[in-house]
Amino acid sequence: MNATSPEGGAGVGAPRATAEKPTKGLADVVAASTALSDIDGKAGRLFYRGYDIHDLAGRTTFEETAHLLQCGALPTRDQLAAYGAKLVDGRALGALVEANIPEIAEKMAPMEALRTLVSLAGAEDPDKDSNDVEANLRKAARLTAQQPILVARYHAARSGVSVPDPDPGLSVAANFLLQITGRTPDPRAVEIFDACLVLHADHTMNASTFAARVCAATLSDMHSAIVAAIGTLKGPLHGGANEQVMRTLQSIEPGSVASTVRQMLADHQKIMGFGHRVYKTEDPRATHLRKMSQELAQAAGDDTYFRMSREMEQVVLDEKGLYPNVDFYAATVYHYLGIPTDLFTPVFSVSRMSGWTAHVIEQHADNRLIRPDSEYIGERDQKWEPIDAR
Ligand code: COA
Repeated sequence: MNATSPEGGAGVGAPRATAEKPTKGLADVVAASTALSDIDGKAGRLFYRGYDIHDLAGRTTFEETAHLLQCGALPTRDQLAAYGAKLVDGRALGALVEANIPEIAEKMAPMEALRTLVSLAGAEDPDKDSNDVEANLRKAARLTAQQPILVARYHAARSGVSVPDPDPGLSVAANFLLQITGRTPDPRAVEIFDACLVLHADHTMNASTFAARVCAATLSDMHSAIVAAIGTLKGPLHGGANEQVMRTLQSIEPGSVASTVRQMLADHQKIMGFGHRVYKTEDPRATHLRKMSQELAQAAGDDTYFRMSREMEQVVLDEKGLYPNVDFYAATVYHYLGIPTDLFTPVFSVSRMSGWTAHVIEQHADNRLIRPDSEYIGERDQKWEPIDAR
């Protein structure tokens, strides 16, 4: 790169006059302004558009929360009815998606499948060529409506069973449990799952949301931004942690939780579901999920995994001073709700779709390309040799 390069380099070999040491992993760097959510990491508090998550969880439905994030305010009854109707209409999958579900279900893991199916949905979305706010709102509703259907249809196809048709009278949460388990869900299970969706809906500049905003800031379309987000959520340091929590619990003997976790820590292994970049105390979402896990364990008549989780929590706190994050108790909650373990991260995406799409709308509404700088740490002043002389 030289001084006239389109990337605006400072010239060959010249250190940048303004270069600063980067913060590894961009910790504490403010990467965007948002009116969507806010975290007080010291106090362990989370807000969606100024509403405390403790006031929303269990009292506000996922549909109301999605409306809050995407449309800017908690809905009135009429607004909620109109938004709910948009979600019901939006559940219909396009022909390209429908045609590809069987092969995708056969060949791809769940998050790969979702990444691919959302990409296909983008190709046939009627608003694909517009980033206008009205088009974005329509796409946001369709994406939010379709994500749980895609998970259910994928699961049914790979299991070789048919899935009940979506019931227009059912909420996102109830319809998802119906389609995943094939049974009319217990009303309390629906309430709990609905609260899980609310708790996972948005979370400031988490990795997948940042990925979505970087993509959207190039003025790419909403579906492309969501594909970037799904690929980012997939990783075990982000959304993939909830599945890993369950696999850890299943791999430990109930009587040897403390010794196993201590050994894992002594071996410098990360215990999935613990620690957080922003929270320095308990993640407020974990407070709700712990209670839900306990309730569901008692209702199931076997609280082994819940008791193991409590023991793990105590050991990790004693040994490392780390608290559970959202993924830790979400794992056992989803398990007790009858959701297959490898669908835990897809379920996260069902909820986070509401936040991702809201962030894309926000980014497009006041856009500037997101293009940070980097610190060059490679060789300088290299002497070029023709290939035969190297
Ligand atoms: N288990 C064991 N040790 C952990 C840990 C965990 N879950 N999370 C953090 N630590 C330790 C690290 O080993 C490191 O210790 P060191 O300073 O002695 O090397 C220290 O705490 C800081 O961890 P680091 O990974 O640098 O923090 P981060 O801010 O970059 O990462 C997470 C945050 C969430 C990625 C990290 O806590 C983690 O990997 N957790 C497990 C995965 C998870 O649950 N992800 C879901 C997040 S909602």
